[in-house]
Amino acid sequence: MLKRWRLLSLLALVPLLLSGCGKPFLSTLKPAGEVADKQYDLTVLSTLIMVVVVAVVAVIFFYVIVRFRRSRIGEDTIPKQVEGNRFLEITWTVIPILLLIILVIPVVIDTLALADTSPMDKKNRKAEDALVINVRANLYWWEFEYPDYGFVTSQELIVPTDERVYFKLKSSDVKHSFWIPSAGGKIDTNTDNDNTFFLTFDSKRSKEAGEYFFGKCAELCGPSHALMDFKVKPLPSKEFKQWTKAMKNYKHTTDSGLAAQGEELFKEKNCLSCHAVEPNDKRAEAARTAPNLATFGERVKVAGIKDANKENIKAWLKNPDSIKPGNKMTGTYPKLSDAETDALYEYLKGLKAENK
Ligand code: CUA
Repeated sequence: MLKRWRLLSLLALVPLLLSGCGKPFLSTLKPAGEVADKQYDLTVLSTLIMVVVVAVVAVIFFYVIVRFRRSRIGEDTIPKQVEGNRFLEITWTVIPILLLIILVIPVVIDTLALADTSPMDKKNRKAEDALVINVRANLYWWEFEYPDYGFVTSQELIVPTDERVYFKLKSSDVKHSFWIPSAGGKIDTNTDNDNTFFLTFDSKRSKEAGEYFFGKCAELCGPSHALMDFKVKPLPSKEFKQWTKAMKNYKHTTDSGLAAQGEELFKEKNCLSCHAVEPNDKRAEAARTAPNLATFGERVKVAGIKDANKENIKAWLKNPDSIKPGNKMTGTYPKLSDAETDALYEYLKGLKAENK
């Protein structure tokens, strides 16, 4: 008896737990675009079919238990046996076949539709016809390259709303997986081949979800796998165009004294050998070993996970490994004083696409 109550109280906790699900910026249950819609509909359809099957079987099961219990029909009565009954045999063969047909038709149609990335391979493709973003996953950060516009950014993905955005994805170290739950997915990033797929971001639902969608690494990749987050900011097509312009014309000038000190430090401490501070990073991919910082001042998160406020940014600069274990800012990474992190903070906060 005690055990049963324990189980019940545990079950009572489930709704509490589940109430944490369904956040519009992070949930497959709140789809925010064509791809997510299709995947959601398939989930609902297959769940409904399963529920109906379970319900029907449960009803028959309990009916039989009650109807044929020993105290009711007597010790020695054997109920009428039905094996080999043609009607029953046909019924329970045909019903599952019908259910599978109902399930398989939309699954095949949607699978083929969602795998169609042919527009991104068209000759003379323009960004206006099919925008392509190259995604590169790294331990534990994300790079987003816009080949049509010739710039690179990282950690925060900017996409236009209401159009198909085509992704070409790979990894530079181990296998990761690119997942934006609200928009659909997910897809592995491999080291030896490119994967492609597309997503769409509905403008109305993007707005309802807030300024950002959350993106995740969905493949166990190392000690900071759970911290390998990124943000997705959908922009209406006009604003997206403006943003690409700002990124193409990116020009950073440091004015205040402290920020200028920070800039000096940034060079002195060799940060530049891994981090670029301009979006048109001309180095080969293999040389881009750390997140591009050109838009660091605009990011909502530092290290992909903590709010980008002064306290967190300074803590990150001082001891990156304590925040994201296993990241590459170790070994020769310098010990920074309070004054130095102040200056670096001031400099990094000024790095923005909309900078003058
Ligand atoms: Cu990258 Cu998990």
